[in-house]
Amino acid sequence: MQTSDVIINVQDVSMCFNMTTEKISGLKEFLIKRIKNQISYTEFWALKDVSFQVSRGELFGVLGLNGAGKSTLLKTVAGVLKPTKGNVQIAGRMAPLIELGAGFDTELTARENIYLNGAILGYSKKEMNARFPEIVEFSELAEFIDVPVKNFSSGMYARLGFAIATSTRPDILIVDEILSVGDFKFQQKCEAKISEMVQQGTSVLLVSHSIDQIRNLCTRGIILEKGQLIQQGNIEELCDFYYSKYT
Ligand SMILES: Nc1ncnc2c1ncn2[C@@H]1O[C@H](COP(=O)(O)OP(=O)(O)O)[C@@H](O)[C@H]1O
Ligand SMILES: [Mg+2]
Repeated sequence: MQTSDVIINVQDVSMCFNMTTEKISGLKEFLIKRIKNQISYTEFWALKDVSFQVSRGELFGVLGLNGAGKSTLLKTVAGVLKPTKGNVQIAGRMAPLIELGAGFDTELTARENIYLNGAILGYSKKEMNARFPEIVEFSELAEFIDVPVKNFSSGMYARLGFAIATSTRPDILIVDEILSVGDFKFQQKCEAKISEMVQQGTSVLLVSHSIDQIRNLCTRGIILEKGQLIQQGNIEELCDFYYSKYT
């Protein structure tokens, strides 16, 4: 693999969350204890020395049980979380689909959120005007386009989020579990769209409940266990390993 092909480079990334160990009943007690230096924290390492690289046009799966650190890893790649140690290098424009509804203002309509998200991703109103019909069509939300998204179901959020993120033709698409939210038909549509984008050179970092979906879509990946990368490589071998270890 040529270094110039590397589009995501994760180097020795560790992420530590500090958690209070005491039961504190309120802000006042917290402040008093804090001033007296009586609060103890325990360190929790959600990621420990994780390193891997993703190449241009690669569909890369991240496997692991609940709590393994998958979402935390995707957030460090997306730049939402700064790693406690190590670093992440990204070469290209990124569209993250990390949490359902993240990046939406629930009081605004779907139409307004499309423009808001476009602005967040760095696109002008004019550029979003050009993309708007495609987004509405893909999301199948034409009837609801002027409804505040607070009235949307989780499936509708997923459709809108996916349609916006993919319309911007990013170099890197990050997808955390959202494909399992919509119905089967939409899931297939999303899978087809992801494959199409990959053929055009987009790299995808994919987390899914469904190991079968990972096996069908991805070519390579990693397995996280309690924040540590325990295996990486070819997706077939990785999924076989995952099945034998966890089921
Ligand atoms: N902001 C946070 N503060 C404290 N602990 C967190 C935070 N975010 C995640 N964690 C913990 O880190 C671990 C990994 O979480 P996560 O990355 O969401 O796992 P996964 O996506 O693989 O299910 C879990 O034990 C979770 O409770
Ligand atoms: Mg998660």
